[in-house]
Amino acid sequence: MKCRVCRQPAIIDIRRHNANFCSEHFLRLCRDQTAKAIEDFSMLEPGDRVLVAVSGGKDSLALWDLLIELGYEADGFYVGLGIGGYSDRSGETVRAFADQRGLRLHQVDMRTDYDTDIPTAAKATRRVPCSACGLSKRHLFDKAALDGGYDAVATGHNLDDEAAVLFGNTLRWQTEYLARQSPVLPARDGFPRKIKPLVRLGEREMAAYCVVRGIDYIVEECPMAVGNKHLGYKEALNEIESRSPGSKHDFYFGFLARASQRFADAAPAAGGLIGDGTPDPGIITGHCQNCGSPSTSEVCAFCRLIERSAGARPVTVTPKGRPL
Ligand code: FES
Ligand code: ZN
Ligand code: ZN
Repeated sequence: MKCRVCRQPAIIDIRRHNANFCSEHFLRLCRDQTAKAIEDFSMLEPGDRVLVAVSGGKDSLALWDLLIELGYEADGFYVGLGIGGYSDRSGETVRAFADQRGLRLHQVDMRTDYDTDIPTAAKATRRVPCSACGLSKRHLFDKAALDGGYDAVATGHNLDDEAAVLFGNTLRWQTEYLARQSPVLPARDGFPRKIKPLVRLGEREMAAYCVVRGIDYIVEECPMAVGNKHLGYKEALNEIESRSPGSKHDFYFGFLARASQRFADAAPAAGGLIGDGTPDPGIITGHCQNCGSPSTSEVCAFCRLIERSAGARPVTVTPKGRPL
């Protein structure tokens, strides 16, 4: 197996490109694909300040590394969600990454700063954990970006993630989500711009990127996300991709180029979507009385979540994600 560019021994084959790459040219491919996504979708201008939402997983750490390599001023933002040992380990991983590279990392810890955590807030508000989590992360990312004067919030969603979300939204013809599924959401209503610069790279490439770059990342998935339907959609798409390489890319980019505009009328005038399937916050009518964030009601959904769960008896999580 030889590198397509230099004919030296290759370390990875990428079937949808019908090519193999050595480590040097694989890293170059990842940088080029990220730069192309940024340019094609006008995600960033030179000199923009970016806040990268980091979880400790491969995608977000690779994204932070790639943005720095591409010359952007990119700082990290980490939310301690209080999901048992998973959160402890992800926090340590993110802090080690930032320390080793001398990068600036902003942190919020739900337990320390808001006297609650995701398992406890989910139980107190009878939400599924991923919904409480998506709502909290969206609020805290927006707030951190606005407070810090950042031009955009970048998240590590890759091609596999976006194709799986599109697959789920298409299966149910959720037209309002289809209308808003884009790798860039412009700033509006007091929300910062949201960008997904990894949409041209797959999950397997991001794991390989971390290995080649010596990035330590947390391999375990969030235990609360066990049984998440997106995992099923990913498996289905992987099956299709293995028979027909390039299908995920064609499905997602074909949708963006030829179909997404057709759903424009279904888009509610609303704030931001992180892109993980979290419902968007609805029509912004004013500001939260409590925290000042753009909101659909007098008190924003995040402040209501905190009000209802702060000080409640903490819910402990087993490694398999079941509350004790
Ligand atoms: Fe949000 Fe798991 S990371 S519920
Ligand atoms: Zn090469
Ligand atoms: Zn609020």
